[in-house]
Amino acid sequence: MGLLEGKIAMVTGAARGIGLATAERLAREGATVLALDLDDETQTQEAERLTRAGLRVSAAQCDVGDRASVEGCVRDVEAAHGRVDILVNNAGIVGRTAPLEDVTDDDWDRMMRVNLRSVYLGCQAVISGMKARRSGRIVNVASIAGKEGNPNAVPYSTAKAGVIGLTKALAKEVASHGIYVNAIAPAVIETPILEQLSREHVQYMLQRIPLGRAGQPKEVAALIAWLASDEASFTTGQCIDISGGRATY
Ligand SMILES: NC(=O)c1ccc[n+]([C@@H]2O[C@H](COP(=O)([O-])OP(=O)(O)OC[C@H]3O[C@@H](n4cnc5c(N)ncnc54)[C@H](O)[C@@H]3O)[C@@H](O)[C@H]2O)c1
Repeated sequence: MGLLEGKIAMVTGAARGIGLATAERLAREGATVLALDLDDETQTQEAERLTRAGLRVSAAQCDVGDRASVEGCVRDVEAAHGRVDILVNNAGIVGRTAPLEDVTDDDWDRMMRVNLRSVYLGCQAVISGMKARRSGRIVNVASIAGKEGNPNAVPYSTAKAGVIGLTKALAKEVASHGIYVNAIAPAVIETPILEQLSREHVQYMLQRIPLGRAGQPKEVAALIAWLASDEASFTTGQCIDISGGRATY
């Protein structure tokens, strides 16, 4: 029997990378998973592939920065399955690698919308249902950049620091309602997101990892699956590193 047998889970940014690996892992642990992404075509193909492998994964289009889109997806899942047990707020972008003086208002606003507002909207959409059932698990995908800051990535680092703050505050707010809220802070993970960054920037990040390699999406998915499960019964409000040893605090 899997760790998440009978659970209903939503994973954002699930068309590829960490989100796709997480959708698959949660489903392999027994969850019914709704995969959400802006890129509906890719994630529908992936959901069909996973369904053919005997897993319960379906896909729906969602723009995580848009309230109506997020609330609509949560409503649909609640109508179909009666509840959302697990929410993984994973969708994100890295934006342009640029010094602060070159950051535009559009860069900044887009980053906050996709990487921070999304987490606020997702948590808000599921929290009353979780409170009513006195049970729920939220895992927010932050970044080591949110703890330590990456040069030439001020908007990204700021948004991810915001995700960590949101996680800690919300966890304390809802702990007495049986809801667990945690964040994870990956360092470099080998996914298509790295194509958005310059080679120098990726090298800068890789050099700082004591284990001397990039992480794999399935390694991150394993941590998320644990945090989403009842096994993580005394862990809430934390930001757990998955950084190959990079994190220094
Ligand atoms: N890969 C890394 O090195 C790394 C390191 C630290 C943190 N992270 C974080 O992990 C998360 C996943 O990253 P990844 O590496 O798998 O990235 P990725 O680019 O491979 O996948 C991100 C997914 O999010 C989707 N997405 C983007 N904007 C969206 C929106 N508005 N609405 C819905 N979906 C949207 C994309 O379509 C894509 O499928 C991100 O939050 C990222 O910041 C990644």
